[in-house]
Amino acid sequence: MQENKTVRQIHRWCSVAFTIAVIIDFVAIMLGYYRDESALWVFYLPLPPLAVQLFTGLYLFVLPYLGRRRTPRRADTA
Ligand code: HEM
Repeated sequence: MQENKTVRQIHRWCSVAFTIAVIIDFVAIMLGYYRDESALWVFYLPLPPLAVQLFTGLYLFVLPYLGRRRTPRRADTA
């Protein structure tokens, strides 16, 4: 149960990091940094938090189905 809470917290805080990285990208575009090849790394900034989002998000998605499988069904108890 505790690890589910930890995964949810990681997902929540990485969403903040991802959003900040996207805002930085918009500002970089407005300032014309996309023309500067040495500044292109800025546009990869959202990818690490997004990768964490993907795996923690998929874990959070399957969690309710895993829980249901472990509890006995009505037919099993009859
Ligand atoms: C990349 C693929 C992603 C997947 C598969 C995914 C999946 C999920 C799932 C299954 C939940 C739990 C929903 C529930 O409570 O039943 C969740 C919660 C959440 N997601 Fe994602 N997500 C993804 C990306 C993102 C992104 C990009 C953001 C925001 C920038 C985001 C923000 C959140 C937030 C804030 C919550 C609520 C966390 C909490 O309960 O504290 N997610 N996500």
